[in-house]
Amino acid sequence: MTEFHIDPDLARAATLPSRSYIDPEILRAEQSRIFGGTWQYAGSLDALKEAGDFITTSIAGEPVVVACVEDGSLRAFSNVCRHRAGPVAVGCGHRKALQCAYHGWTYGLDGRLLGTPEFDGVLDFKKEDHALPGFRVGTFGPLVFVNLGAGGPSLHEVLGAIPAETRRWHPDALRFHHRQDYELACNWKVYVDNYLEGYHIPVAHPELFRLIDYGDYRVELFQHYSKQHAPVTAAGTVYHRDLGDGEGLQALYYWIFPNLMLNLYPDHLQVNHILPLGPERTLTRFEWYAQDPLPPDWPARFAANLAFSDSVQQEDIFLCEAVQRGLRSRTYDRGRYSAARENGVHHFHRLWCEGMNG
Ligand code: FES
Ligand SMILES: [Fe+2]
Repeated sequence: MTEFHIDPDLARAATLPSRSYIDPEILRAEQSRIFGGTWQYAGSLDALKEAGDFITTSIAGEPVVVACVEDGSLRAFSNVCRHRAGPVAVGCGHRKALQCAYHGWTYGLDGRLLGTPEFDGVLDFKKEDHALPGFRVGTFGPLVFVNLGAGGPSLHEVLGAIPAETRRWHPDALRFHHRQDYELACNWKVYVDNYLEGYHIPVAHPELFRLIDYGDYRVELFQHYSKQHAPVTAAGTVYHRDLGDGEGLQALYYWIFPNLMLNLYPDHLQVNHILPLGPERTLTRFEWYAQDPLPPDWPARFAANLAFSDSVQQEDIFLCEAVQRGLRSRTYDRGRYSAARENGVHHFHRLWCEGMNG
């Protein structure tokens, strides 16, 4: 595959070529080089509190099981039975050992193969050679992450200053609350590009524009993530409340390369998980994590928040799907970045090139 290059100078750079948003071969390469080697959000820690608890997910096409073991720590494995590739765990639940749904082989929560019914007489077969391959696992607040790649930075290194900067929201006290999925007819990067700039807010999101101080909207870049923040206007106090710690009211959005967004509000966290379903098909999964116990006025405020979030999302869906059609145009290939407003998009494209070029 050709090398990808984005000029490091934002003021001179051009965006990614159109075919990177269309070509099925690019998505195949992304699955192994981008999603297969970065910390991916795997689910909620709520379901992994006791030894024996497990959850399943799929990361870059790899079936994955995450289990809580005896000492309370988490382990992640390939959810693929070493016999004939059946599922070792299905959905989520609580078990002393994992049992394949196909022929019943059992595995310890540490991945060791324990039981192989009716397998006597099989030559050159040792159970200890058939443990489930393990993956790196980590947590931040209520979020569980898995990395299929053995190399690269730790989750701690990737998150940088985020844990310290979000301490005032007490991420450890957040519990899974609600999920809303949206399927979009666009490449996953079109959606991420859209998220990474506030440039489109005045034209595309008039209601959101009223809630934040656009003049002071900033995008700050870090090695593995970027951070968008803006002071909240008087109208914005509907969704943002003062925590009373002298920090003032801020809209605060983190994006962690490549496909996770953390939007922080005073009493909840909204997670956006962006998953490619095909070159031109994307699942955007919105999850709300709220403080436990829920404040008494939560239902009314959550309903308002959900409605607002949905209206902004509909505005973005319209744009992202139109952009995808635009990227297919015979007259368009690459554009330019606003030096004032699109540093976050440029940063993403640079990280993407680095990942793709290996
Ligand atoms: S595939 Fe798992 S026991 Fe046969
Ligand atoms: Fe938007």
